[in-house]
Amino acid sequence: MSIPASILEVRRLRTSFESPTGDLRAVDDVSFVLRPGECLGIIGESGSGKSVTCRSIMRLITPPGRIIGGEVLFEGRNILTLPMHEVEALRGGAMSMIFQDPLTSLNPVFTIERQMVDVIHRHTGCRSSAARARAVEILGQVGVPMPTERLRQYPFQLSGGLRQRIMIALALACRPRLVIADEPTTALDVSIQAQILDLLHDLKEQLNFAMIFVSHDLGVIAQLSDVVAIMYAGRLVEIAPTRQIFRQPRHPYTAALLRSAPNLTSHRSNPLLPIEGNPPNLAALPPGCSFAPRCPQRTAICLEQMPILVHNDHMFACHHPLQDGPSHIPAQTAEEAEAV
Ligand SMILES: Nc1ncnc2c1ncn2[C@@H]1O[C@H](COP(=O)(O)OP(=O)(O)OP(=O)(O)O)[C@@H](O)[C@H]1O
Ligand SMILES: [Mg+2]
Repeated sequence: MSIPASILEVRRLRTSFESPTGDLRAVDDVSFVLRPGECLGIIGESGSGKSVTCRSIMRLITPPGRIIGGEVLFEGRNILTLPMHEVEALRGGAMSMIFQDPLTSLNPVFTIERQMVDVIHRHTGCRSSAARARAVEILGQVGVPMPTERLRQYPFQLSGGLRQRIMIALALACRPRLVIADEPTTALDVSIQAQILDLLHDLKEQLNFAMIFVSHDLGVIAQLSDVVAIMYAGRLVEIAPTRQIFRQPRHPYTAALLRSAPNLTSHRSNPLLPIEGNPPNLAALPPGCSFAPRCPQRTAICLEQMPILVHNDHMFACHHPLQDGPSHIPAQTAEEAEAV
């Protein structure tokens, strides 16, 4: 059998939310390709559409939200047009998602055993005893101590770090080929965050699933991702292999993001510092480039015409791309990029 070139291909995805002030374009014309075993890191300011992109890929958008265009090809099949029962068979099985807050994703009224056995049974059809054995095995693999005892507990009896490990175990229990992790460590304290990130990194190496990893933290993105996508106002403004993004950002917004991270790799919890100005209102986007009002490079064309994403190894959507990336970011950050 030939190896597929891509496990996921997102083509011109558009998702909007109805709001009293008009339709809010949360995801606008987003396209990218993810290869088997690859990790795509998505980064961007709050409200830029990262979570809506992830949820759209899993077809988890509910009213007032609506996917209004595009295709999400998972192993060649369009998730957006498959019958719902087929999508449900894929979710939690071949493709799974790790959410930011495990308390809202785990069911508080069922034991861990019940939740894990249900998922494993539903996706693999194996008997309860085999599903239970798989649950113990995967809990051990994600570093949950005394897995057999944990199975009898309810989510509220566990610490935040353990709950997140159990969420990861649930996501991986059926050997997914694609895992979407949407800020999986934001709700945890810093030392636990580092442990969970190391765990995800190791599991990805061992199990070789493809991953979409969303974060506010450039250091984390740099360590986990093969390819980085920068999102601004619902659109991808730059996508490139990680080294290239850090060494030579072409979009002024990417360069501003890099400047806003005081230290890239030595500390794992460096949230982005604010960039001057505010992101635009997604219900009333300006006609040209959405970043133009905040952009030091802007000229008249930027305010009038939306730049298109240039398609090659290093994609960017800008009328005036930067030429010499490292000169636009502090020397210290450029050195760190060399280490990535
Ligand atoms: N259920 C909803 N109803 C209305 N608008 C929504 C809903 N969910 C998301 N949005 C809007 O869609 C836009 C993108 O939201 P999204 O949650 O994807 O941002 P994000 O990049 O994940 O931000 P954060 O970093 O804060 O998680 C935001 O403007 C948000 O207000
Ligand atoms: Mg989000």
